[in-house]
Amino acid sequence: MTFSTLDAIAKKAIIFSAFSPLLAGCAGEPLPDDHTQTVRSAITLGGHVGGISDGAFAEARDNFNLQEEVTDGIGPVFNERACGNCHTLGAQGGAGVQIERRYGRFVNGVFDSMDSSGGSLRQLFSVGTFTTSTGRTCTVPVEREPAGATVHNVGRLTTPLFGLGLVDAMPDAFFDRLVAAEPAEVRGTVLRAPVLLPNPADASQNIGSVRVARFGWKAGISNLATFAADAYKNEMGITTQHCFRGRSITDFAIESAPNGAAMATGCDDLAAAAPDGIPAGTDDAVGVCASGQTELQEDVQNFLTFMTFLAPPERDFGDQVAIGAGAPLFSQVGCNGCHVTTTFVTPNPSPNGVPGGMSFNPFSDFAVHDMGALGDQIGNNGETVEQTRRMRTAPLWGIRFRNSFLHDGRTGNLADAILAHDGQGLAAANAFRRLTGAQQHNLTQFVRSL
Ligand code: HEC
Ligand code: HEC
Repeated sequence: MTFSTLDAIAKKAIIFSAFSPLLAGCAGEPLPDDHTQTVRSAITLGGHVGGISDGAFAEARDNFNLQEEVTDGIGPVFNERACGNCHTLGAQGGAGVQIERRYGRFVNGVFDSMDSSGGSLRQLFSVGTFTTSTGRTCTVPVEREPAGATVHNVGRLTTPLFGLGLVDAMPDAFFDRLVAAEPAEVRGTVLRAPVLLPNPADASQNIGSVRVARFGWKAGISNLATFAADAYKNEMGITTQHCFRGRSITDFAIESAPNGAAMATGCDDLAAAAPDGIPAGTDDAVGVCASGQTELQEDVQNFLTFMTFLAPPERDFGDQVAIGAGAPLFSQVGCNGCHVTTTFVTPNPSPNGVPGGMSFNPFSDFAVHDMGALGDQIGNNGETVEQTRRMRTAPLWGIRFRNSFLHDGRTGNLADAILAHDGQGLAAANAFRRLTGAQQHNLTQFVRSL
């Protein structure tokens, strides 16, 4: 078996570590340092990298898959009952078929997420009608897109989580350097955002500390801990409170208000009332934070643990001839301008417990690019139209486990996904269009191998 394709890519690598990716080239053979693995070590999809026991990983994964009910705090509005109900493809933690819905409007050329109407995420379900323990009947309405929206029903496909703990381990400066090396025409913008929920394992993170935002279709979230608490609230309607170095974090403690209308206390769901000193509406609380106490709410900590150690997908070199022919085309037509072929190497020691010096290839710069008509025109309040067209370069690793592509899942056909690139991606799409049918086939087979 040959790894010439990957080695060709590895030669272009910007190396940020003493470990050369070329040395790490043999499948399944760990380097002498047994904390070091490569993407091509034999980890089954859905398995974990080093740094955690099988048992601890399985326990965290079970929590990720756990179905929550109204009595656990689901609602008032939600999209699904378990993280694992959406992130399913290939293995638990994968991409999914669920497509979420967003809306918004432009006022004088700037984006308004219509927060007072419950925007910009429109949850698809409500807990409906139920009776509280005091005999009161509550009815939660299903969210609707408000009449004033001008950006309608934008889809957001469920993305895969494989390997994201390694991405979470990368220092900000790495992303800045990646983007600085990109050709000017396609160069991305590295976004930064405050950490709302620090990862207790990473000493560099603090409440409000700014970090490169690398997660989500729009690269809006700066670490996996924040994404976990955010998803628990926004996807499932389960609100949480946490303690960090003695401070109480309540950013995720307030229930969503369906279309902006807050439910009366107790009418958001049937979870037990929040303990004293904790905001009403908190479904799962750590409690009043003792001096110096650091403790994430247990479910959120488990989601974070599962995602941190979830292994990256391995490459599939099965269709060797086509892949070998497609690899150089990937760079020739300029795909690598954004889907960088750089080998990432986690810092050693790593900040979040994943193996240090571990190399991996996500084929993304985790920066956003102006994608023209492909951009979804959803943004943060106050952003210009141009800013709302920015999308994060979608990581291409493990794409063969997916069945639909692009942020709204509009196509199941890889060539169509490539041809839809516009804005900074238009030149590459046009170069792809000019390839022969055979070359297009080889290039898409290469993409499927990643
Ligand atoms: C209803 C389906 C659904 C559920 C339930 C769900 N997710 Fe997701 N997940 C999505 C979608 C859709 C996205 C893309 C969101 C975006 O970027 O706008 C996503 C993205 C993510 C990302 C960002 C990945 C990346 O590509 O950067 C993380 C992390 C994540 N989810 C974790 C979780 C966790 C943890 C839970 C459970 C608390 C969860 N998700 C529950 C649908 C879901
Ligand atoms: C200017 C940067 C840029 C260039 C150049 C570029 N892409 Fe992309 N690519 C993106 C962005 C941004 C997305 C996410 C699009 C979206 O939000 O729908 C994406 C999405 C994709 C997807 C869909 C992934 C998914 O998760 O659904 C594929 C496949 C893809 N690109 C392949 C390619 C190939 C092949 C080339 C070369 C012909 C290429 N791209 C060139 C930025 C780029």
